[in-house]
Amino acid sequence: MNIRQLFPLGKAYGEAFCNRESETEQLVGNIKSCKHTLIIAPRRYGKSSLAERAIEKSNINYAKINFHLCTSEEEIAQLVLDGVIRLIGKSTGNIEKAMISIKKYLNNLEPHLSFAGEVASLKLVSRKKENYSVIISEALLLLEKLLAEKEKRAILFLDEFQEIAQIGKNGGIEGAFRTAAQEMNYLSLIFSGSIRSLLLSMFENENRPLYKLCRKIKLERISGASYEKHIQNISLKTWGKKLDDDVFNKMMELSNRHPYYVNYLADCIWEKCRIIPVISDVISAWQDVVKEEWSDALKELSSLPIGQRRLLKYIANHYVENIQSQETCAALSMAASSIATAAHALIEKDYIEQDSFHGFKIINPLLLTVLRGVLDDR
Ligand SMILES: Nc1ncnc2c1ncn2[C@@H]1O[C@H](COP(=O)(O)OP(=O)(O)OP(=O)(O)O)[C@@H](O)[C@H]1O
Ligand SMILES: [Mg+2]
Repeated sequence: MNIRQLFPLGKAYGEAFCNRESETEQLVGNIKSCKHTLIIAPRRYGKSSLAERAIEKSNINYAKINFHLCTSEEEIAQLVLDGVIRLIGKSTGNIEKAMISIKKYLNNLEPHLSFAGEVASLKLVSRKKENYSVIISEALLLLEKLLAEKEKRAILFLDEFQEIAQIGKNGGIEGAFRTAAQEMNYLSLIFSGSIRSLLLSMFENENRPLYKLCRKIKLERISGASYEKHIQNISLKTWGKKLDDDVFNKMMELSNRHPYYVNYLADCIWEKCRIIPVISDVISAWQDVVKEEWSDALKELSSLPIGQRRLLKYIANHYVENIQSQETCAALSMAASSIATAAHALIEKDYIEQDSFHGFKIINPLLLTVLRGVLDDR
């Protein structure tokens, strides 16, 4: 294996996966006891990697549905049908034999079998084309009943699930998931996605169908100690010795332990260094990351309303405990109410977070570097 594969920019598998042991154990426990789970974290913190790790460890059949590119309720329903069919195939073994049961459990969907040589494949066709909520709940319940017959377990991983709220405005689709999910004893659902605020409002608002349906796993950054073990191991493998503490600490400081940027920075270091890196190598590698991402970051920042941009820049450069203090209002030339609105929007979009010890913080370390640099928003 090429050592740089241990720092993936896509999902982290196998040896590239650092820690998250308690979260993995919790998720495996939920899966095994058929509790549905909602994984929540800012963008690129490792939700999908964690879900896939736990699924692999649980050793249970699964299908993954990613709603990322969905644009209509019809497409959502089709993805659910495809996922259900994949899992029926995996779980029943012989689809032809399962047809008697499949027919028994369906009202609004019609099962069609087609053959390519010896291999049978199933299609579920809706009798009432446009009622997508009914299609979704019936397909999910069909899968649950077939699993119950076989006493087999399965997992459906529903990624980028916030798209459901953005497309299915009247809550019908969310309702369909609830209708089916509350009947499940064999099929466990894992919900994940970005835009935390949107996901949380789907699952924590008592007026929404998915309220109190899941156990929640909130992912934080991976701890420094876990990264130390992980990265020092890779250093040993590469150069036969550990990185100096100040070198390792500089990596943590610049990437702010954001999982995506830890990998990005480490990849740049490992790409450049033939001998064990020193601090200046880490700084220069981070400059490479920033250079590569600079124009995207500027584009992203310039798409924000001016008030939000101004506040973001202020937070990047100052310790801010009370966002509506006279000092902040004066520094930003903004009314306290406008600052509150801007802060709310930035929290909703995962640009900033507040913790009780460190005040407001920028989540993305690359944006932090850019905001501390030459960006001028006037
Ligand atoms: N446990 C881990 N150990 C090491 N790196 C990780 C871990 N989890 C995630 N990463 C890294 O973090 C980045 C994001 O991972 P992943 O795609 O799983 O996150 P995500 O939260 O699903 O992202 P998105 O919000 O884009 O869906 C990737 O570079 C991945 O390699
Ligand atoms: Mg993901």
